[in-house]
Amino acid sequence: MRVLFVCLGNICRSPAAEAVMKEKARKAGLDKEIVCDSAGTGAYHAGEKADPRMIEHAKKRQVAITSIARQVNPNDLIEFDFVVAMDTSNYDNLIKMASGQEQINKIFKMTKFSSNSDHDDVPDPYYGGQDGFELVLDILEDACSGLLTHLKSKL
Ligand code: 4NP
Repeated sequence: MRVLFVCLGNICRSPAAEAVMKEKARKAGLDKEIVCDSAGTGAYHAGEKADPRMIEHAKKRQVAITSIARQVNPNDLIEFDFVVAMDTSNYDNLIKMASGQEQINKIFKMTKFSSNSDHDDVPDPYYGGQDGFELVLDILEDACSGLLTHLKSKL
């Protein structure tokens, strides 16, 4: 099962989602069954490592972010089984990229898998303070648990 996490720059939220999900899959003994990647709707940061602030906050939670940014492309909607957008804007851009209902059906918002309705989007932390990065990780830890449960039911 292949899961692609998508945000705008692919240097903050989606690399964190990828790393959180990989860690949860590993702990569940499902790292062979669940393969994770991430990408951005924008290309501004393509080729870069994740934002050092995101890496540092994740590290404090024993989550290692190692991805290199890349832009999402139409082939991703063929290759991946689940494409998970961090916010409504990313979601809308992916829906526009999709060709046909089968691809549209693969696209979800991250917060669809949250255990509560506190957040509709994973908020962009890029221009904010340290709290924003902690909030991103809190939302992702919760939503990735929900996503893992969902994926297990599909294996
Ligand atoms: P991300 O955060 O979408 O979570 O990776 C952002 C990173 C960079 C920019 C915007 C959002 N930017 O405008 O450069």
